[in-house]
Amino acid sequence: MSHFVRQFGATVALIVAFTQVAHAQEREEKTPLGKKMSAMNTAFKAIGRQIEDPSKNASTLAQLDIIETNAKAALTLEPEKKAKVPAAEQAKFVADYQAGMKEFLVTVEKLRAAVKAGKNTEALAIIDAMKDQQRDSHKAFRIKKAGQPPA
Ligand code: HEM
Repeated sequence: MSHFVRQFGATVALIVAFTQVAHAQEREEKTPLGKKMSAMNTAFKAIGRQIEDPSKNASTLAQLDIIETNAKAALTLEPEKKAKVPAAEQAKFVADYQAGMKEFLVTVEKLRAAVKAGKNTEALAIIDAMKDQQRDSHKAFRIKKAGQPPA
């Protein structure tokens, strides 16, 4: 084997090893709240793909149930970022987080009503509002980690 081929093989093996470690860390690092969020994320993406198709409304309502269940569970959990906030501000931080989640749940119910009524165009606008809530809430309550997308 030429020197080049051996060197190349070793580099590929290293990259594979690092990727596996990175993935393992990703799995381990998910907080209980992060797990609820991931479940919301999968359901929210599915809704985004099909909201313009009224024939999928029953499925959209099922995805909304998943979002509601996980958002309610998230209300009982606290963001990781709380520990980074000065002790005197932690109670307000958690109260603000809970208020944000309750506000989000109100929007979820608005979306449910629009889908039930077959108002898919209106539903699309509500989804945009939910994306805004997601972005603003993440800015306020989520620890910004390296390599993480902004929202
Ligand atoms: C459409 C709505 C939302 C979606 C799709 C969403 C999605 C996500 C995702 C994918 C993560 C990363 C999970 C991980 O892999 O660790 C996350 C984290 C987080 N989200 Fe959301 N999110 C939404 C709304 C919200 C709202 C409304 C709040 C608060 C009021 C919130 C607070 C947080 C917090 C605090 C984290 C970090 C987890 C922790 O601190 O343990 N999210 N979210």
